[in-house]
Amino acid sequence: MRARLKIDLATPEPPPQASIDAALRLLTTGRLFRYGEMGGEGSEAALLETEFAALVGSKYCLGVNSGGSAMFLALKAAGVLPGDKVLLNAFTLAPVPGALQHLGAETVLVEINDRLVIDPEDLRLKAKNSGAKYLLMSHMRGHIADMDVISAICAEFDIKMIEDCAHTMGATWNGTQTGRFGIVSAFSSQSFKQFNTGEGGLIVTDNPDIAARAILMSGSYMLYEQHAAAPDAYVFDRWKGTCANHSMRISALTAAILRPQLPLLPARNARWRVIHDRIAMRLRRHQMLRLPNRPEAEGYIPTSIQFFMAGDKIEAVIKESTAHGVPIKFFGGDTAIGFTSRSPHWEYIDNPQQVTKSEQILSTLCDVRLPLGLTDDQADTLADVITQSIDAVML
Ligand SMILES: Cc1ncc(COP(=O)(O)O)c(C=O)c1O
Repeated sequence: MRARLKIDLATPEPPPQASIDAALRLLTTGRLFRYGEMGGEGSEAALLETEFAALVGSKYCLGVNSGGSAMFLALKAAGVLPGDKVLLNAFTLAPVPGALQHLGAETVLVEINDRLVIDPEDLRLKAKNSGAKYLLMSHMRGHIADMDVISAICAEFDIKMIEDCAHTMGATWNGTQTGRFGIVSAFSSQSFKQFNTGEGGLIVTDNPDIAARAILMSGSYMLYEQHAAAPDAYVFDRWKGTCANHSMRISALTAAILRPQLPLLPARNARWRVIHDRIAMRLRRHQMLRLPNRPEAEGYIPTSIQFFMAGDKIEAVIKESTAHGVPIKFFGGDTAIGFTSRSPHWEYIDNPQQVTKSEQILSTLCDVRLPLGLTDDQADTLADVITQSIDAVML
C-alpha cells in the first residue's frame, strides 16, 4: 500500500488564544497605530520590543512590517550606501538580494558548501578581491555556518556583519544565539516562520546609533521616545534631521498577536527538532537521498527539511510525491517557484555573477515544509511518501 499524507503542509501554526484575545482587546480600543499623540505608555509594540530584546539578549529592538523591511533598515542603519558592495551567501531567498537592490547596494555573491552555508574559503577570497565592508549573512532555511570562523574572517577584513535570522529564532551556534553575531540582525514573523503574525519583522542590535537610525527610518516621526528598548534621547538628537522616514512601522495589532507567542518558542523549537530529526532519519536510509551534514555546534531549528536527490528524474519524483500529499520544492528548477529561488533568477542584480559551485549544489536540492502540527505518524508518512515516490519513479 502506498503511503499518502492527508494534511496540507502549508498550514501555518495558528496564533494561541492569548493572541486572539489580545488582538480583540486592542481592536475595541481602536489604537492600532503604535504611537499615541498623548504618549504611548504600555503600547503593545513597545512591550514586544522589550520582550524580544530580552529573548535574543540584545540591548535594543525595533518592530517593523516585514522581514524584508527589517533587513533593509538594518543594512541602511548600519551605514550601507548606494553603490556599496555587500557580500551575500548564494543560497538565500529573493527578499534578501531584494533588500540590497532596494538600497542600491552592489551584491557580491559568495559560494556555499554542501552544508548549505556560506563557504569560508570563498568568503575570504571575495572579501579580499571585492573590498566589500559588509556581509549580509543569511541563515537560509535555518542552516547555520561556523559563526566562529565567519566572525573571525569579518574581523580580519574589517567587515560589518548583518544577520538575516528569518528562519532562526532561538537557534544557536556553539551556544550563542543567531542574531548575536552581527552588529545588527533582522527577524521575520511571516506566517511560515517560528512566529506567525502574517507579516512582521524585528531588528535587534546593541549599537545605540544603529538602533536610533533604524527607529527614525522606520517612521517614528518625533514620537521615538515612546520606544522602550531604545537608546537615550541624546542619541536620537544626533540623527533626527538626517534619517528619512521609510514608513515601515510595525502595527500595534501585529505586536499584540506576536507577544503571547514569545514564551512558546522553546517548546515549539523543541518540537520542530523532533519532527525534523524523525523524518531525516528515515530519509537518510534511502540510497538516492543525502542530507546536509549538521555539526554538533549547530543548534538548528528546522521549520523545513532539505535533502539532495540523486538521479535525473527529480521532477517526476516531485510529481509523484505531490500526488500523494507531499509537495516537494526543488531549488534546481529553471524558474523560481513558490518559496524557492537561485541567483540566476535574480535578474535585477546589476552585475550577474557565476557561483558555479553553489549552482551545482542547489541543482539537486529539495525542500519540504514542516508544519508544527505534524504528528509523529504523519512525520513517518511524509518520509514514506518521499521514499516510495523515488522507488516508484526511479527503481
Ligand atoms: C531567508 C529569508 N530571509 C528573509 C525573508 C524575508 O521575510 P519576509 O517574508 O518577512 O519579508 C525570508 C522570507 O521567507 C527568507 O526566507
